[in-house]
Amino acid sequence: MKVTLEAIKQRPMPQHIAIIMDGNGRWAKGKGMPRLAGHRVGVQALKSIIIAIDELGIQYLTVYAFSTENWKRPIDEVNGLMELMVEFIDKEIDYLHEKGVRVNPIGDISRLTGKTYDKIMFAQEKTKGNTHIVLNVALNYGGRQEIIRATKAICEEVVQNRLRVEDIDETVFSSYLYTNGQPDPDLLIRPSGELRVSNFLLWQIAYSEFWITNILWPDFSKEHLWQAIWEFQNRDRRYGGLGEKRS
Ligand code: IPE
Ligand code: IPE
Ligand code: MG
Repeated sequence: MKVTLEAIKQRPMPQHIAIIMDGNGRWAKGKGMPRLAGHRVGVQALKSIIIAIDELGIQYLTVYAFSTENWKRPIDEVNGLMELMVEFIDKEIDYLHEKGVRVNPIGDISRLTGKTYDKIMFAQEKTKGNTHIVLNVALNYGGRQEIIRATKAICEEVVQNRLRVEDIDETVFSSYLYTNGQPDPDLLIRPSGELRVSNFLLWQIAYSEFWITNILWPDFSKEHLWQAIWEFQNRDRRYGGLGEKRS
């Protein structure tokens, strides 16, 4: 069945969607092109998904752009990805700002190359007052790194007598994550068919619905997003309880 915008707009939208933008390399390989060409088309897919998210009125989008493990790749690919981020911001920052998108990097961006770091900081600063859409861009991001970072910050608060151990609960812990103040993703999308989370948002996806497709990220279109949302809207989220359909 072909899902229409009208159909999904009639039902509650996910508030927060997270996407593992995977499959660029395979897409390029399939076309006999260098991997970087796949990443380049992947950036265009991201732009079209941001437009679709805006159309749907969804407020939070988190995209996995570079993991703490992606440094294992050949230096040329890593540098190419860093360069693409600069190009993306140069090309799209005015559009994003106009649309009310807040560009919010998550991850240890201090390790990025100088030029990329500066550009990301510029984008963050320019858009920091925007409230229409929060675009979390996971850059040098790892879920385990994020949890350790939060744990260290909490320990420091305890050592400084600003926080009591007995007061640490899920709400307090969440507030030390990069996504502080944001709802957890309702829906996690992974293109390219891999059945794993690859160290993405380990804490936040505790109750996210997963939608996995064999489509490679450069081919991912708004129709795929609509399909994912439609299926999400037809799931029964039980959170360990009995849910609507069973009670
Ligand atoms: C995702 O595409 C982009 C990044 C990890 C930066 P890949 O480059 O992982 O593509 P595949 O998985 O090799 O096809
Ligand atoms: C996850 O994809 C990271 C990003 C999309 C940025 P990977 O391609 O790095 O994940 P694995 O290696 O297949 O688990
Ligand atoms: Mg991959």
